[in-house]
Amino acid sequence: MSEKLIIFDTTMRDGEQSPGASMTRDEKIRIGRQLERLRVDVIEAGFPAASPGDFESVKAVASVVKDSTVCGLARAQEKDIRAAGEAIAPAVSGRIHTFIATSAIHMEKKLRMTPEQVLEASIKAVTLARNYTDDVEFSCEDAVRSDPDFMCRVIEAAIKAGARTINIPDTVGYAIPFQYGELIADLMRRIPNSDKAIFSVHCHNDLGLAVSNSLAAVLAGARQVECTINGLGERAGNAALEEIVMAIRTRRDVFAVETRIDATQIVAASRLVSSVTGFPVQPNKAVVGANAFAHEAGIHQDGVLKHRETYEIMRAEDVGWNANKLVLGKHSGRNAFRARLIELGIDLDSDAKVNAAFDRFKELADKKHDIFDEDLQALVSEEMTEVENEHFALVSLMAHSETGQTPQARLVLTMGGAEKSAHSNGSGPVDAAFKAIESVIHSGAELQLYSVNNITSGTESQGEVTVRLARGGRIVNGLGADTDIVVASAKAYLNALNRLDARMERVSPQV
Ligand code: KIV
Ligand code: ZN
Repeated sequence: MSEKLIIFDTTMRDGEQSPGASMTRDEKIRIGRQLERLRVDVIEAGFPAASPGDFESVKAVASVVKDSTVCGLARAQEKDIRAAGEAIAPAVSGRIHTFIATSAIHMEKKLRMTPEQVLEASIKAVTLARNYTDDVEFSCEDAVRSDPDFMCRVIEAAIKAGARTINIPDTVGYAIPFQYGELIADLMRRIPNSDKAIFSVHCHNDLGLAVSNSLAAVLAGARQVECTINGLGERAGNAALEEIVMAIRTRRDVFAVETRIDATQIVAASRLVSSVTGFPVQPNKAVVGANAFAHEAGIHQDGVLKHRETYEIMRAEDVGWNANKLVLGKHSGRNAFRARLIELGIDLDSDAKVNAAFDRFKELADKKHDIFDEDLQALVSEEMTEVENEHFALVSLMAHSETGQTPQARLVLTMGGAEKSAHSNGSGPVDAAFKAIESVIHSGAELQLYSVNNITSGTESQGEVTVRLARGGRIVNGLGADTDIVVASAKAYLNALNRLDARMERVSPQV
């Protein structure tokens, strides 16, 4: 009998801490529902004390998700724990995850606390959290650079105070697999009450070792892994959920553990997170990259055709890949449209939203003959990433480019409901469109990233554009999709400006 490995997803908390990856409440509900379909055990939905918006998002996820535990993060401080406790109150199963740094450098330079004060704060935090829920997780931040003797004291006390899960994060991505595995085994062996808690790991990818470190820890006895979809996360990201799950499943002979994940939901989760955050997935990314199952070399193709397992260790369909499926066309009706969204797990919760999405679908069907699942997902993502009461919106755009001539763009946009026209030249039509927008808005924002992705293959495909803007230390991503990439670009730029306006920044709990 295999033991159970708990999959703890922190895409909406640690993942959201990536610059520009802020999510709205509705986006979190949508991702939360997809994570529930994926059957993750625990969803860390945010850091409720960070802002009223984050508090509301965690509460909303806790209200809709029924089949996964919903968790809120809290520093080892009374106000954070109370906020997390209130935010998870509606959950069928709710967890508070409280943490404090235990490394000498963090205690001395960041917290300005003595080890004894940290020990005291840990006990107080866990005790208070237990007033809200029986399911309390405690983390020693920067565990890998902490003194193991001191961690043993803190963890023993946290378990005594009622923590059921003990997390040993590699906060700065410094660990090496065999040493990390030894650390976990050592702590579990030395802490007298370690059998009263589940040991968990949380690895950052600064050296590209987050997944390897997590797997080494599982071999050493950890029974919870914290990870994110697509490896999203601060700096180089966190351990990628899809890689952990598929490594464990594919190498059952090595890992004597099982997860309850429905792997066929992995690709849908990856696409959703990518489109909500605007972080594209690299083509050669394991499991969810566009090339992950593509066999280009003749010798490989020949082998796969003769006997699939010559070169394939996993089946694409097992993780949710299916060939671009023609789903709807110009003549499809509202009911067929709605039914397909439901099959894709897209839950538009009001008739008004379904109607708005259907209108967009009809517009798209006029421009593009074949509509695939990916088109529907992009169309709905665009609908969802729109900021409530958005200040800026595109009305129309005309772009001109001709060999030997200066590219130009002319556009009409609304600013707080009032129409404005603008015109500019640029080095290309996209540059001209952005300059035209700025000639009326004067946002003062710096363009940090511009990227275009084909949603499906072929030149008829929609382009999905991501624009990252920074202003006053805040960074946001905007998204836009259209068969015309200049229009998609202008929409993405305006979406980013709306997000800057809506103050959709994220505070890191570790700062
Ligand atoms: O990396 C880290 O240490 C964290 C903690 C809050 C668990 O994200
Ligand atoms: Zn982290």
